[in-house]
Amino acid sequence: MDKLLITGGRPLEGEVRVSGAKNAALPIMCTALLTEDPLKLTNVPALMDLRTMAKLLAQMGVEVGTQSDCGIELRARAVTNPEAPYELVKTMRASVLVLGPLLARCGQARVSLPGGCAIGARPVDQHIKGLQAMGATISIEHGFMNARAERLRGARIAMEVVTVTGTEQLMMAAALAEGTTVLENAAREPEVVDLARCLRMMGAKIEGAGSDLIRIEGVGSLAGAEHRVMPDRIETGTFLAAAAAAGGRIRLTGAAPDTLAATLGKLREAGARIQTGDSTIEIEMAGRPAAVSVTTAPYPGFATDMQAQFMALAAIADGAAQITETIFENRFMHALELQRLGADIAIHGNTAVVTGVERLQGAKVMATDLRASASLVIAGLVAQGRTLIDRIYHLDRGYDALERKLGALGARIERVH
Ligand code: UD1
Repeated sequence: MDKLLITGGRPLEGEVRVSGAKNAALPIMCTALLTEDPLKLTNVPALMDLRTMAKLLAQMGVEVGTQSDCGIELRARAVTNPEAPYELVKTMRASVLVLGPLLARCGQARVSLPGGCAIGARPVDQHIKGLQAMGATISIEHGFMNARAERLRGARIAMEVVTVTGTEQLMMAAALAEGTTVLENAAREPEVVDLARCLRMMGAKIEGAGSDLIRIEGVGSLAGAEHRVMPDRIETGTFLAAAAAAGGRIRLTGAAPDTLAATLGKLREAGARIQTGDSTIEIEMAGRPAAVSVTTAPYPGFATDMQAQFMALAAIADGAAQITETIFENRFMHALELQRLGADIAIHGNTAVVTGVERLQGAKVMATDLRASASLVIAGLVAQGRTLIDRIYHLDRGYDALERKLGALGARIERVH
């Protein structure tokens, strides 16, 4: 199995291009199920999770073609098998996003329940309740959600928790429902906005995406479209955190600085100098970062997907930082691995108190989930000596060519077998 070997201690210098956003591409690929016409997507990152989604769609009868320049073409002339099997859903929870589109298109769907996950329980009750409010009957049998609906009907749905994929699920279903759907307490994440942009291009009538109140007027049919996937704000944030930790000066292109306000604010608080253009971000860090505390929250708050990377930054910062996780109940697994590199971290419930040390030391560590892996990479870049990260398949799910990009910035990083 592949591992990553990092020799720490070098500042980062140079320029890299940010990839398209995994978390936007996943729901957007599912919109192909809503039309017989081709959906052409560009700026699609080369990631395992997106290959899994393509495989899932292909099993349902969707024609999947790849094009040059990070392009993919999806065409669901007919949906022959409206089912998402356990084997695919268990490797990628976002597979449940096919439920709403399948119901809207075929009037039926059979989608495996995702089950647990390394970072917490992650139920899908809000997805189910929302679709039921739109007239679907959903029963749970043998670990599957069996859903049926003649035609979904618009409804006013007050979501009990802010859920990103839940909002996306209901928005896609509502696009083809009869009548108007109003989603209250909707997620405001930029990926929800990107999905709405794609759906609108297909002919959907959606207002308010990006606010907590989304209004969708159902239409009879949707057409094909061409859509460029938004830049990955978490990949961007990861590179910025890496530069803040390792020091140096880097420039990111193809980015969306306006989706990163919380992260940029915290990096500035840590002492980084940051300049943004329309699609570029430059960061310069001289000396040791100051300790900054963060509390995760739904967008526009500080992203839970950036929490682990900021814990790595806090590990070598000057002073003590409090890192509080409010979205997932078990998202501190990386703390134990960071401790193996010499970090001083005390966990009290959902808060980690990180007292910065001058130096981390390289060691063998194990990645437990996607963003945890990124925090170990950042720690490895600043640690003295060599860090060997095991189970990097987690990284491959969410970072496109991470070691090549970091290598281009001067990091000593290689994939070993
Ligand atoms: C998405 C992101 C993930 C990110 C997360 C939070 C994708 C593919 N993944 O995950 O990277 O970490 O948002 O920003 O976009 N919840 C319920 N019931 C539900 C749904 C969610 O109680 O039906 C709870 C979850 O357990 C969690 C919270 O709501 O505590 C937020 O989860 P949610 O926003 O749904 O996360 P995902 O959409 O799965």
